[in-house]
Amino acid sequence: MKKLTVLSIMAASFLLVGCGDSATGAEAKAATEHKTESSAKVKAEHKSATTEAKEAATKAVEKTTKAVAQKASEAKEAATKAVESVKEKASSVVDSAKEAAASVASAATKAVAKATGPDGKAIFAKCAGCHGADGKTSAMGKSAIIAGQPAADLEKKIAAYKAGTRNKTGMGMLMKGQVASLSDADIKAVATYISGL
Ligand code: HEC
Repeated sequence: MKKLTVLSIMAASFLLVGCGDSATGAEAKAATEHKTESSAKVKAEHKSATTEAKEAATKAVEKTTKAVAQKASEAKEAATKAVESVKEKASSVVDSAKEAAASVASAATKAVAKATGPDGKAIFAKCAGCHGADGKTSAMGKSAIIAGQPAADLEKKIAAYKAGTRNKTGMGMLMKGQVASLSDADIKAVATYISGL
């Protein structure tokens, strides 16, 4: 009996020790679980904070991108307007320069005409068809050769055709039509030119 008692005490103590051990193990497990739980919580919190930060950053980037795009399109518009206004100004400058050049040119032409008088050669161009480019053709087989005649004579004859008072071969009226629009200065100029042919 005594032996049995000792054995049972031993067994009980073994059990107790085992229990104690397992109790400690359970506690440790619980602690570990708690730890894991809280670390998971922390992790989750951390994760959500990261996500929030990410979202905020994304939003900020989007906002910035929009603002940049807006500013860029505004700048583009402004640049386009500036270019247009420069173009308009440039074309108006060109226009006024053209006008100025044209008025200078016409003034120069007038000045030359005033200085030199009407261009006899230019006037004779419409006479050449009948009288010849060298003035040595008998117009329509009727007129005398006009090239080389004294300028004063030619001037008088042409003026007489203009007045309708000259008619040598029945073609006076035809010649009147040819010289009707010539001024006295034109007649003088063309007479001088024909005389020199
Ligand atoms: C369509 C042809 C024709 C043209 C163009 C013409 N003439 Fe004549 N011209 C004649 C004829 C024809 C006569 C003769 C007129 C007459 O019967 O008096 C003549 C006569 C003359 C005479 C007189 C010659 C002389 O000594 O009797 C002169 C000068 C003359 N023309 C100058 C001119 C001049 C200058 C022009 C240009 C502005 C001109 N003609 C254009 C046909 C022409």
